[in-house]
Parts: sequence; structure tokens; C-alpha cells
Amino acid sequence: NSHRIAVIPGDGIGLEVIEAGKRVLEVLAEDNTDVTFDFVDFDWSSERYLKTGQYIPDGGIEELKTFDAIYFGAVGSEKVPDHISLWDLRLKICQGFDQYANVRPARVFPGITSRLQQAEDIDWVIIRENSEGEYSGNGGRVHQGLPEEVGTEVSIFTRKGIERIHRFAFEMAQSRPRKHLTLVTKSNAQRHGMVLWDEIFFEVAKDYPDVTITRELVDAITTRMVLKPHMLDVIVATNLHADIISDLAAALSGSLGIAPTANLNPEGTFPSMFEPIHGSAFDITGKGIANPVGAFWTAVMMLEHLGETALAKRLMTAIEEVVASGLHAPDLGGSATTREITDAVCERVRAI
Ligand code: NAI
Ligand code: MG
Repeated sequence: NSHRIAVIPGDGIGLEVIEAGKRVLEVLAEDNTDVTFDFVDFDWSSERYLKTGQYIPDGGIEELKTFDAIYFGAVGSEKVPDHISLWDLRLKICQGFDQYANVRPARVFPGITSRLQQAEDIDWVIIRENSEGEYSGNGGRVHQGLPEEVGTEVSIFTRKGIERIHRFAFEMAQSRPRKHLTLVTKSNAQRHGMVLWDEIFFEVAKDYPDVTITRELVDAITTRMVLKPHMLDVIVATNLHADIISDLAAALSGSLGIAPTANLNPEGTFPSMFEPIHGSAFDITGKGIANPVGAFWTAVMMLEHLGETALAKRLMTAIEEVVASGLHAPDLGGSATTREITDAVCERVRAI
């Protein structure tokens, strides 16, 4: 199988960790005559925006359509407002390709010390609605600069959008040993869209009688995650809520630097996009100390999506062994560089 992968490293440490991820993938394929990765690099970044006024050149989205998957680093620069970089690059791809299911696994690898006592109980998958809700870009500003200025940020929740993400979450729960799904909303205070979310959840639940369900408010789930992590398995939440709780999940499982995510178009009409959840990390850019584990685990998710289950397992094992050996980047309290961790993972991949 030859997989055509569009590579968009983006900004900051995105470039460093995606370079590392590509190397690991190439090593994975080197003794495997059946599998090749055909990487095509795209320089869609803040640097490009500052030079040309565009993150994505004309026709860029059309061009991406032909790929089997997109491997993305991070976007964000001190020289461009974050709402421009996010909307003009990452969200353009997510929304252009209807990548409505954002999947964010969190678990604690052996060898990582979490600040949380019961951290070994963390084994979650957070399903984030990725196409509408609070991030639909709907709203505006009037009376700009005047004392009576008003800004609105209106969430849009559609029956179609809610139902498809709930179905996706139920299927995910059904595929896991514990078959438990937690619904997260804020339907006490937000009484329209959130109530619709709840109602459709319970409608869809009827089709999955083997999945046990609970419902939590978004504020309550944060305490649940910290105090009773074993009670959670799969969590489904809106765009904003899931964005927040998945950063918490990443921090509880050790560091933002290890967490992966997949932006899926489950129907396969368009390519899906895989990225570590962290951003471009201005504070450590160029120092060679970014933790590449998030980008590697992201590559595992991409391999699973491409149907390369055996390679995905092999890479995951290699990552876990390296982490367990105590070779940690500074974000996990160690002193290993990106390159040292990458070399070690490549070596394990060759050995397994
Ligand atoms: P960030 O994720 O870039 O960094 C937060 C903290 O975590 C920093 O101290 C950073 O050094 C650390 N960190 C993150 N990834 C790490 C890794 N792999 N290894 C070691 N340490 C790591 O978030 P921040 O600082 O809020 O945002 C910086 C820029 O990135 C902003 O422009 C923001 O908009 C953008 N961003 C982009 C995202 C994306 O492309 N999906 C996601 C989050 C932020
Ligand atoms: Mg986030």
C-alpha cells in the first residue's frame, strides 16, 4: 500500500515534531515492502502568511483533497493574531473537509509520573464536536470602539451535527471494553442548544442498549476527571467544552506534549487530519527540546486510520518502551532532546 500523506508542519515546534514524526514513519516502512509513505510537504504557515497574505494559497484545499491523510504540526505565531492563524489554516481544513469528529485519547504511559494520584485510572477518549457549536464563527461586533460596543459569539447547534457526533461517540464506546459514554453539556444554564444536545443524546442512546451512559455538566466533569478518573471512559462534548477538558486530560496524563488528536471525516469523503494537540510553543521553539511523543502517537492514529494496524501497534509499543525507559523531554521532568527521543524510538521500531 502506498499512502499519500500531506504534511503541514506549520509554525514553531510544529516543524520540529513533524520532522521527527516523518522520520519515525520512514523507519517503520523501511523493511516493509508492502507499505510506502509518499509525503508531500506544504509550507502553509504564519511565515507564508506574513509574506503573501495567505496561509493556504488559492486552490490549496482542492489540492489537499487528493491525499489519504493530513499530518499537521501546529499553527500560531507571535506576529499574527491567534484568531487569524487558527481560522485561516487549521479551521479552514477542518471545516472544508467536514472533519466533524475530533478524537482525543488520553492515558498514562508507564514511566510517566502524573500529578494525579489515581493517574493509572486514566484511559479516556474524548470525542469533540468539531464542525459547529461555539466555534461556528457566528457573531459580530457593533459600535466598535464606542462605550456601547457589543460583541456577540453565537453558538450554532444543528440536529444533523449533534446526531452524527453522538452516533460516532456511541460507536466508539461500543468498541471499547467498558462501553461507557459520558455526555457533557451545560444545559442548566444554556437552555437552547445545550438542551437539544441532551435530547438528541438520549434519542440516539436507544440504538445502543449495550452502552451505559451518564450525564455531567461541564463544570462537574472537571472535578470528576481529577477525583474519580476511573468513572470515565468515552466522553462526548461540544467544540468548546471538549477543547478545554481535553487539555486538562492531557495535563493529567503527564503533559500536553504527548497528547494526539484526529480530526476525522468518518464517511471518508474527504481526507482526515492528524495532529498533536499542543500548539507552536513559542517558549521552547528552536531549542530542540520539544517532546515529539505527541506527534508520534498522532502518527499511530493516522496509521490506524490508513488501515495499517500492525504498523500502528509496532509504533505504539516502541513509544511506550522508550517512555518507560525514562528517556523524557523537559516537559516530563527529563533532559532528553527531541532528537534523542526520536533516535530511541527509531531504534526500538527497528528492533521490534
Ligand atoms: P502551546 O501548546 O503551544 O504551549 C503551552 C505550554 O506547553 C508551553 O509552555 C509549551 O512549551 C508546552 N508544550 C506544548 N507542546 C509541547 C511539547 N511537544 N513538548 C514540550 N512542551 C510543550 O500553547 P500556547 O502557548 O497557548 O499557544 C502557543 C501558540 O500555539 C498560539 O499561537 C496558539 O494559538 C497556538 N496553538 C495552536 C494549536 C494548534 O495548532 N492546534 C493548539 C494550541 C495552541
Ligand atoms: Mg485546545
